[in-house]
Amino acid sequence: FAARQVSQSVFGAVQRRAFSATASNASKVTVLGAAGGIGQPLSLLLKLNPRVSELALYDIKGAPGVAADISHINTKSIVKGYDPTPEGVKECLTGAEIVLIPAGVPRKPGMTRDDLFNTNGSIVRDLAKAAADACPDANILVISNPVNSTVPITAEVFKSKGVYNPKRLFGVTTLDVVRASRFISQLKSTDPANENITVIGGHSGATIVPLLSQAGYSLEGAERDEYVRRVQFGGDEVVQAKGGAGSATLSMAMAGARFAESLLKAAQGQKGVIEPTFVDSPLYKDQGVTYFASQVELGPNGVEKIHPVGKVTEYEQGLLDVCLKDLKGNIEKGEKWVKENM
Ligand code: NAD
Ligand code: LMR
Repeated sequence: FAARQVSQSVFGAVQRRAFSATASNASKVTVLGAAGGIGQPLSLLLKLNPRVSELALYDIKGAPGVAADISHINTKSIVKGYDPTPEGVKECLTGAEIVLIPAGVPRKPGMTRDDLFNTNGSIVRDLAKAAADACPDANILVISNPVNSTVPITAEVFKSKGVYNPKRLFGVTTLDVVRASRFISQLKSTDPANENITVIGGHSGATIVPLLSQAGYSLEGAERDEYVRRVQFGGDEVVQAKGGAGSATLSMAMAGARFAESLLKAAQGQKGVIEPTFVDSPLYKDQGVTYFASQVELGPNGVEKIHPVGKVTEYEQGLLDVCLKDLKGNIEKGEKWVKENM
């Protein structure tokens, strides 16, 4: 599915470049953590995207090498790799329209995403500070886990610098949607490219809530439970299979490239671009849940419209209730930690 989707959206787009009026818009895209397992294939996919005019790569090690390699690909965008210095990260971020952050450590078998909190919280906090100073108006796309906490951490950093814009901060939950769509297509023998299962909530275990009913499916019993479990714990499936060598990188690169492409399309004037993503959301604020992933319409200003969750079954409501409880804790943990460790 990933290959197919990529071939449709990215390579297809390369071929369409000559005919696309919007492809000439200048869009600098920055990747922080560009030499990592996600960072490298993500940068590759962004190099293939004609909507990107400049690709800026930063990592604490190896970004200039990745940039030199990718820069030989015969698409028009300029690629630059930056040294791991304060000036390097500043230059890398200055002028960016989109900043993708896959910097951080991945899980090993037996770990939860929350076990990454301390290490990745500090990494994301420091990179968020650099972004708030260098490109306060950019769209910030947080991939580093635990997303349920690293997004609030980023928001608090931007608030502390007086530049927080809730419309420009996104937790990337696209991989959950990709998995939910792929897994239902395997059960129903459908074309995964035509599946688009809404996934709401957050990005870890029980906070990931697929809404099959909204796509007209009604699985029952063990089949339903197994499907939901697989979507909620798809990340663990990859962590186990990699046996200590990290977590999902290639599927995540595809998901991150898809989300960036959606933002660029929306910024370049396309209407009706909708992606589920984890944003500062009014939907469950009355229950103390200040960030929530639901279908979000994207536009030139980032978040254009946060769609309500819509009709759910009693079973899905049960999942949502558990999700909200966990999510509240994850968000509050991030906010509390960053305020004490700014
Ligand atoms: P990785 O270890 O392969 O790569 C991480 C990269 O970040 C490394 O190159 C490292 O040098 C770099 N890095 C570390 N500290 C940095 C800093 N301060 N500044 C810049 N770069 C820095 O890990 P990975 O497999 O690419 O995963 C990265 C993160 O993405 C993990 O936290 C993982 O859990 C998360 N992830 C999220 C999703 C999602 O759906 N949101 C999916 C998969 C993985
Ligand atoms: C995923 O969903 O694959 C990522 O969040 C990585 C992980 O730790 O599972």
